[in-house]
Amino acid sequence: MLKKYRTLWLTADEPSLLEIVDQRYLPHEIRTQVLKNVSDTAAALRDMQVRGAPLIGVAAAFGMYLAALENPSDAFLHQSACELKASRPTAVNLAWAVDLQLEHLLPLKPDQRIQAALNYAIKLGDDDVEQCRRIGEHGLQIIQEIEKNKNKLEPMLEPINIMTHCNAGWLACLDWGTATSPMYHAHESGLNIHVWVSETRPRNQGASLTAWELSEAKVPHTVVPDNACGHLMQKGLVDLVIVGSDRSTASGDVCNKIGTYLKALAAKANNIPFYAALPSSTIDWTMDDGLKEIPIEQRDAKEVTHIQGLVGSELKEVQLTPKASPVKNFGFDVTPRDLVTGIITERGVCQASREGLAALFPEDAIEEETLHE
Ligand code: MRU
Repeated sequence: MLKKYRTLWLTADEPSLLEIVDQRYLPHEIRTQVLKNVSDTAAALRDMQVRGAPLIGVAAAFGMYLAALENPSDAFLHQSACELKASRPTAVNLAWAVDLQLEHLLPLKPDQRIQAALNYAIKLGDDDVEQCRRIGEHGLQIIQEIEKNKNKLEPMLEPINIMTHCNAGWLACLDWGTATSPMYHAHESGLNIHVWVSETRPRNQGASLTAWELSEAKVPHTVVPDNACGHLMQKGLVDLVIVGSDRSTASGDVCNKIGTYLKALAAKANNIPFYAALPSSTIDWTMDDGLKEIPIEQRDAKEVTHIQGLVGSELKEVQLTPKASPVKNFGFDVTPRDLVTGIITERGVCQASREGLAALFPEDAIEEETLHE
């Protein structure tokens, strides 16, 4: 089974090659692809062969290693950094990982850079796995608390219904996932959970990737159309929402896959706790107002006009919309902090606020007054 792998790895006998799971074909086909250089890596990011904020960051860090292998000069590393950063604008992990690599490599002599880039990419990947594991441990406590209150008379009589959006699972990271990590921890600890997976139009990361992950792990789940989620909340069928994030501001605004904001609004209206699970690499400490400041990726109209699926045993794409109808395809939206019950990080759960995040990560927080100087 694929799960014994992470989402990317170096080829066993050829450590100058990076391999990825090409996520465009899941859940129907498990295809892997070899990335030979930095341009291959940028293309894999742009075309969403690898996707999800933490994975984008680690893949870009390995992309910088491939760049150093190609040519470890200052000029080429700078050029490669720009190429990688231009591939996707919203997830801050991308620029974060590339800039860390540059900071780490440029002071070294060119002949030392290849090994240093490799070591650093491996470290960022290992850190991500550990951060996601810890997010799971902290999120588990929230689920345990809900279980205690929901099943007072008979433990685990009713399942804890958790809703999620997009794929913030191990496929979006190196392992565990962010939003899914508390779910995997809860399932492994024997709690009775059930996950509502919203399909996540237009690319359907929920229906294809999250549903696949959960079924591989045998976590009870049900896929629903995005527009059913408010109804499920009104009917008392959701105990908790957990989503991931691509960039969160220092003040606690959460940017995630388009459609997240509508879930947060419906959760607020129905008194349902709404959490964002994210590693600190997803926090953009330089930003305050998510709506005004976070760049929102606009993607190819074809993701809206067409849909991919299995016809018999063949993957095919079919047109959905009239050829003449114009479409817009915003990839992400911003959920303002007052709709977020809490943020689950590797260091614990905090309020979605400047104070909450700064208390957990005092070394990263920038004073508000100096932010826009
Ligand atoms: O466009 P994608 O598939 O890269 O978007 C992914 C998401 O929005 C995830 O929810 C987010 O990256 C968190 S991943 C742990």
